[in-house]
Amino acid sequence: MDLPADLRLALANELASAPQKNVADAAEKLSSRYRSGQALANGTFLHSRADVVAYAAYRLPATFAAIYAALNEARKRRPDWHPHSLLDAGSGPGTALWAASELWPELEQVTLLERDDGMITCGKQIAAHARSRIVREAVWQKVDLLGPWESEPKDLVITAYVLNELPASRRETLIDKLWSVTADTLVIIEPGTPAGYSHVIQTRQQLIAAGANIIAPCPHNLPCPMAGNDWCHFSQRIARTRLQRQVKQATLSYEDEKFSYIAASRTMGSPIQGRVIRHPQIRPGHIQLQLCTPEGLRSTIVTRKDKEAFREARDIAWGDALSPR
Ligand SMILES: C[S@@+](CC[C@H](N)C(=O)[O-])C[C@H]1O[C@@H](n2cnc3c(N)ncnc32)[C@H](O)[C@@H]1O
Repeated sequence: MDLPADLRLALANELASAPQKNVADAAEKLSSRYRSGQALANGTFLHSRADVVAYAAYRLPATFAAIYAALNEARKRRPDWHPHSLLDAGSGPGTALWAASELWPELEQVTLLERDDGMITCGKQIAAHARSRIVREAVWQKVDLLGPWESEPKDLVITAYVLNELPASRRETLIDKLWSVTADTLVIIEPGTPAGYSHVIQTRQQLIAAGANIIAPCPHNLPCPMAGNDWCHFSQRIARTRLQRQVKQATLSYEDEKFSYIAASRTMGSPIQGRVIRHPQIRPGHIQLQLCTPEGLRSTIVTRKDKEAFREARDIAWGDALSPR
């Protein structure tokens, strides 16, 4: 996938406003802080304007791709649902705002909660270039999610790449609070690592106990069948811009962002037969699919003999839902 053209331009503008060398250095340090999970002494991952610009230039495209993919899977299970209000907790530069407004242009009211002033300033600057009125008019609030804050219930609540920045002891309380302000659906996205998955899976159990229906990626509300060294995650390919390639000093024209997620809803989603949890293995005459189903993890082989199923299986990708047959 590509970033929306207006977002790409807005990021290029933002990047042009900071010295390239500082941003490239900041991107490298930020990237190693995220990889190691080592926050700065003040408990945050950012400390300068160059860090914020580096985040927007080098992480935002990838987190946009993951958020878009997760929201899109939730949307497919609720095709008649059109959220009017959105709350994004730990919005950074507004990544989820851009992704959600692409998928649901009918959104009317968006509130973004973020504690970092630099992120808020950067996010507002980027949003000023948006074609979408809802992106330009989003309300930014400086809030510490772990402190006192209030919100009216919102149709859609998102928190993306935030749980891994919070102390373990505070995550459960925050999830309870986010669920309490969710009128319809709460979407949580984390890095597609064993640690990211472990935050997602704990949250999944907590939300099911609170009465939520998991509408994506899971085809059921039963205990997650992944165990041992395995972890449920997906991958989204995103094109790199020229500027990004410079910042990352990368040669590839794309990157694959791995992510784990759940969409928890107060309403049931349309039923699915299963979810494809690995890249399909395409062999001469057959395709092998690894699925998560209500009956557990299954490996299934679709042969050319079953013409219709084979045609469908050829178009299936890792992360897709299988419709009931
Ligand atoms: C990795 S960034 C993710 C930003 C955005 N959601 C995205 O996916 O691109 C994490 C963001 O959460 C914010 N954050 C972390 N802890 C927070 C807290 N206690 N209260 C408010 N924001 C917080 C950080 O300032 C940062 O902007």
